[in-house]
Amino acid sequence: MYITLTPHYASLLTCKVFTICVYRLVFHPLKDYPGPWIAKVTDLYGVFIALGTKEHFVTRENHLKYGPVIRQGPNRLVFNSAKALHESSEATARLARATNVWNAADKRLHRSRRRLVGETVSERSMRRFEPVMTEQIDIFIKQILDSARSPNVETNIVNMTHRIKRLSFDIVSRLAFGYPLDSQTKQTYRFIMEALNAGTQINYVSLQLPSIALLQPFLFAGIFNYGRLRDYHEMVTKMISSRLSKDVKSIHDLYSVIANEIDTETDDEIGSNDLWAEAVFFFPAGGDTVSTGLCALLFYLSRNPESYEKLAKEIRTAFTNADEIQGGQKLTGCRYLRACIDEALRLSPPLAGALWRELPVSDKETEPLIVDGHVIPPGTQIGVSTYTLHHNEDYFPDPFAFQPERWLALEDETERKQAHNAFAAFSLGSRGCAGKAMAYLESSLVVAKTLWYFDFESAPGSLGKVGTTPNATGADEFQLLNVFTSSHDGPNLIFHPRGDSWRELQA
Ligand code: HEM
Repeated sequence: MYITLTPHYASLLTCKVFTICVYRLVFHPLKDYPGPWIAKVTDLYGVFIALGTKEHFVTRENHLKYGPVIRQGPNRLVFNSAKALHESSEATARLARATNVWNAADKRLHRSRRRLVGETVSERSMRRFEPVMTEQIDIFIKQILDSARSPNVETNIVNMTHRIKRLSFDIVSRLAFGYPLDSQTKQTYRFIMEALNAGTQINYVSLQLPSIALLQPFLFAGIFNYGRLRDYHEMVTKMISSRLSKDVKSIHDLYSVIANEIDTETDDEIGSNDLWAEAVFFFPAGGDTVSTGLCALLFYLSRNPESYEKLAKEIRTAFTNADEIQGGQKLTGCRYLRACIDEALRLSPPLAGALWRELPVSDKETEPLIVDGHVIPPGTQIGVSTYTLHHNEDYFPDPFAFQPERWLALEDETERKQAHNAFAAFSLGSRGCAGKAMAYLESSLVVAKTLWYFDFESAPGSLGKVGTTPNATGADEFQLLNVFTSSHDGPNLIFHPRGDSWRELQA
């Protein structure tokens, strides 16, 4: 059926658009909140800034211009306070059709998915999974050694985004599907990182304007290369069938936890059970995020010699040999290491933008939602921009400086508490990150092992500038391109094997 835009329809359409704009500007329950006027009339504003990958910068600038609460969509409010972060964390619902634990709006569905996923990434589960994780980290370390000892100056320089992404994806593929992705050593599946980045961005744009979701299949297939999409689906099918061919309990992974819930007899098409979506979700949730945090930390260490020295000293005195570097009291006792990880996640949160929350439908009859003293009308989405909150001077003095000490400031208990209260990298509450234990274990092991075997510095000249952008003070900031998770490049580093300890890597 064709619809022809006759002058009659055109004038009806203009009239409708005009009426909506007037309503949203003059009569809407959020009419008194400040913000860019275009954001007040259309969600296309959100689409536009999401496509530009700079939502975190734009939102911070909007806060500086309009104040602590801004209207950033016809039905959207963004807050810049720790109080709002805490008060809004439980009022969660998702916009999209539920495909996994993260976007399950229904509370019961979310709870049951969260139980399964939570069991897989819990601290207890990590104790069983750690040897697999360590095996992958050791490959990473050996490859760094090869680069460090290469006589060729060009291969001396290591782009950490590439190396760490491969490492983190190899780790999550084993936890999600019990599958050896082996992207550190083989080329075959490296395309998945870029494909997922594109997919995440499309989902992110759809989240701004749900009607765009109708176009998703075309966007996926057309704009972002149909061939890649097909390769991706083939890869997922291969991982699932490979896992199904093995004994359930022979591998400690998500499947060993969810197997009872998947009825392979009645699932007519391989991978058709919704629960496999949880495994796929591990790639962006656990692969992209950890790699962003780690790259940011190495970036800031390479530019802050005092912090670097302090951290190196802590690691090199806490352990007497490399085998001791494993999960447990000694590693968690490295408090400066934890402070460095948190400080990198503060400056460069892997999910840097606003995480939208909406009062669940079932709760609409009950008490109104009040956030930071504001009564939130039903149907309003609220968010706190993590990047903006993490750079709010009220909570983090000198917010653009890399200062791990702020997390340890024992002499100033209030300052330390204040910082913890406004730390939103993992979000909060029942919808907060399920994989925190895994994220800290993986990040701690990678950094501790790296500093045990090597010293490192930024590459010279323009290569050392890759992945850098000037921050509000003009200093180097690790550049995040916000596609819901973050895309990035660099830092380019040069490694120097330390003492004789590296020789054991050649055994
Ligand atoms: C530094 C690393 C990480 C950061 C900064 C991070 C951050 C977050 C954030 C902010 C959320 C909430 C998203 C929202 O509300 O929209 C989240 C959710 C989630 N994360 Fe992480 N994450 C990290 C690592 C991991 C890892 C290693 C896993 C394991 C696979 C994981 C699994 C999940 C899951 C399953 C959810 C959804 C939870 C739910 O909705 O109930 N994350 N993460």
